[in-house]
Amino acid sequence: MPKTIQSIRSLKGKRAIVATTAYDTILARLADRSGIDLLLVGDSVGTTQLGFKSTVEVTLGMMLHHTAAVVRAHTEALVVADLPFAYSHDAYEHIFSACRQLIQAGAGAIKIEGGLSIASTVERLIASGIPVMGHIGLLPQQLRNIGQYRRFGKSEREAKDLMADAEALEAAGCFATIGEMVHPEVSRSITQKLNIPFIGIGSGPDCDGQILVANDLLGFSVDTVPSFVHPFENLAERASKAFKDYVNAVKKGDYPK
Ligand code: KIV
Repeated sequence: MPKTIQSIRSLKGKRAIVATTAYDTILARLADRSGIDLLLVGDSVGTTQLGFKSTVEVTLGMMLHHTAAVVRAHTEALVVADLPFAYSHDAYEHIFSACRQLIQAGAGAIKIEGGLSIASTVERLIASGIPVMGHIGLLPQQLRNIGQYRRFGKSEREAKDLMADAEALEAAGCFATIGEMVHPEVSRSITQKLNIPFIGIGSGPDCDGQILVANDLLGFSVDTVPSFVHPFENLAERASKAFKDYVNAVKKGDYPK
């Protein structure tokens, strides 16, 4: 049965939600066959696949291209697309138009970075038929403001702000919210307080589910992965070996046979 925002939401309190990112058809199919609940076409595509230094360079055109590729995998997993950099603070018509295009490309919902400050926009989008997933804590699109990746919610002020953000997004109608690099104790309190799933990434074990960037969990990267990531494979090493074997085989005349 294809997953919907309602079925994802109803998993809260029943079992952990499992999510990852996908940027193309093959990864989406493989993840889907493994029982992933939710596939995020993250703007992390910029750093994991496209060679950018941050997610800031990722445009709506790129997100549409990758969302359509993931949608063509016809997954049971719910496909959620990221709203790219700075759209959430643009004029409402532009935000709405970007979200509409991503939904028309086949996304089942849109993920938007931000909390309280974007709650009224989120409410308007949901009222127009665009399901929204929240994203609080570390907001990669804010990298230029925060300077570097770090954990959020250590101080009492930050912990309170995170709770306020999470509650505002739930009140606005989000079906789930991602918490990135949120202090584990704050994550636990938010998870307990919300009626919608709180899905963590680097935010400790006491969330309603986990999401990891696919390249990080597969070990398919030439860069270092965040310290909280537990890679489940080392595809980079395997791919390097396969390329080397191919190069050697051709040079030695062992291929083709
Ligand atoms: O773009 C992305 O991959 C994300 C995850 C880190 C949640 O937003």
